[in-house]
Amino acid sequence: MLKIGDIQLKMPVLQSAISGYSDVVMRRLARQFGVELTFSPVMLDKSVAYRKFWKKPAFCLADDEKPIGGQIVGADPQTMAAAAKVLVEKGFDLVDLNFACPAPKVLRRGRGGEMMRNSKLALEIFQRVRSAVQVPVTLKLRTSYYENDSEREHFWQICAGAISGGVDALIVHGRAVEQRYRGKADWEVLAQVKQRFNDTVILGSGDLFKADDVADEMRLSGVDGVVIARGAIGNPWIFRELTELFNGDEPTPPPSVTEVGQVLLQHFNMVADLYPEHKAVVYFRKFSANYCRRHPKRKKVLLALMACKTAEQVRGEIERWFFNFENN
Ligand SMILES: Cc1cc2nc3c(=O)[nH]c(=O)nc-3n(C[C@H](O)[C@H](O)[C@H](O)COP(=O)(O)O)c2cc1C
Repeated sequence: MLKIGDIQLKMPVLQSAISGYSDVVMRRLARQFGVELTFSPVMLDKSVAYRKFWKKPAFCLADDEKPIGGQIVGADPQTMAAAAKVLVEKGFDLVDLNFACPAPKVLRRGRGGEMMRNSKLALEIFQRVRSAVQVPVTLKLRTSYYENDSEREHFWQICAGAISGGVDALIVHGRAVEQRYRGKADWEVLAQVKQRFNDTVILGSGDLFKADDVADEMRLSGVDGVVIARGAIGNPWIFRELTELFNGDEPTPPPSVTEVGQVLLQHFNMVADLYPEHKAVVYFRKFSANYCRRHPKRKKVLLALMACKTAEQVRGEIERWFFNFENN
């Protein structure tokens, strides 16, 4: 059982915010496989106030997606607080503040990961948002700005300040901002965070690609739960494995090629319903690439799917490689 503010979850595993991926389709699939709380991709504070923004397929929100966390990024406390209010009006059940994004275009504007070396501004933003909304507020953090730990003090200040200001959970990706996605996530720091702030809900993030990784890191670090990002792309089965693990159920064998094909097709059809055809075909390629990892003829299938230019071709290749695969 995991409790974030008034949100109660049976399994301590959430699907992370993943820019360019965690749209309504990926979130619905994750839910179908057992995850109870998912996050929107990061949204710019200034944009969420515009009606047109919510019509963009990447930011669509379905009525049945409950509970759901909305994540915002920005550098102005007032605009962040206004954006948080819009998220609540739109139906989000939790507001997550992105103080972690390492993308150069985000950092250049003093947003995201820049907060990891500007704890004063980070806490000002948090306080404004905290007072603006009644729903749970969480922070997405990295463990420092620089790889050499010299700036870890900002991290501790943000954690301590947010906790005394009533944060509902800290979501910590065990890497420095400068590191982006290089090297390994540092779960030792996660253990230290949990030791220091034992009464706060701490969620860990980083390099969880299998159910066993989750079990090991949770046990070793003592965190209350985890968020999964890359391990869930083209792999909603990870949430089935985790549900079984936490329920103590006998694990279902890995999906057959046909089952992978069925989910792949379902995913593509949902994407094709949401986006214009060309956009859907191109956008879907990055998901296909991960689904193909489970196919014995991965490279051939990948090439075939990447070459598709129309929705009909995508469906045809899925049929050929996943449903009639013995003949290929
Ligand atoms: C393509 C990509 C997009 C991401 N977008 C976001 C985002 O919008 N918000 C966020 O907080 N983290 C984002 N992250 C970071 C992940 O949520 C996660 O913390 C990180 O990838 C480590 O977890 P993983 O090893 O499970 O991927 C992104 C990561 C990737 C690879």
